Amino acid sequence: MNASYNEMAGRLMVALDYPDAERAKGLVRQLEGIPCYMKVGMQLFYAAGPDFVKELKAKGYSVFLDVKMHDIPNTVKGGSDSVTRLGVDMFNVHASGGALMMQAAKAGAEAAVADTPDLAMPTIIAVTQLTSTGQDVMNNEIGIPGLVEDAVVRYAKLAQQAGLHGVVASSLEVEAIRSACGQAFKTVIPGIRPAGADIGDQARVLTPGEAIRKGSHYLVVGRPITESPSPRQAAEQIIEEMIQA
Ligand code: C5P
Repeated sequence: MNASYNEMAGRLMVALDYPDAERAKGLVRQLEGIPCYMKVGMQLFYAAGPDFVKELKAKGYSVFLDVKMHDIPNTVKGGSDSVTRLGVDMFNVHASGGALMMQAAKAGAEAAVADTPDLAMPTIIAVTQLTSTGQDVMNNEIGIPGLVEDAVVRYAKLAQQAGLHGVVASSLEVEAIRSACGQAFKTVIPGIRPAGADIGDQARVLTPGEAIRKGSHYLVVGRPITESPSPRQAAEQIIEEMIQA
């Protein structure tokens, strides 16, 4: 395995969207040896909790806790303190919670790190617009006027000003975010579909190769791996496509 394999595998975040630890462990076993990031979302975290996260960390995985916090600043600060103490490498909050809430998320993580020897500061990212939200839903249901891309860039700048390290966005907005916030500002990109794969409920999708070429830092992939008859092969194909790009 060469450096570009390890680098690209480390930029693939596998979404462990399962209802219980047993099924999630089944997938982790099938992917054993692939140095990918593991994403634990609310379905699995609400069911399997901190123990499952600690197990992934004990196996050496980087863990993205995708719990999308959105509450008053004091509550988010406490949540952030708690998840940082689990040793997660990344977690996220909604940018629509505002600057004070995002600053509180950072302060909570800093407090946990200051209080715990050997604990590294996690990467904290903001959700801009869910990739399942299209133009019509954003304008007419949520009530945000204008283009999705403009709303996403506005949220990204707000997150950066609040001191967060990056955003979750769709690959269609990566270039605009990079030019507004710079290359070091992390982009975490769900809605990735290999050519010919089922889009499901995602509205804004790109292939792994296209997402890398646009400069995305991390690619979040769920169903194209979890629902594949051969998850390991699906993951390896995605990493190969990332390397080629
Ligand atoms: O199965 P699929 O590849 O669509 O999974 C995408 C994953 O990324 C899911 O776990 C979903 O919760 C997450 N996600 C997303 N859109 C965001 C943030 C996270 O789809 N804006």
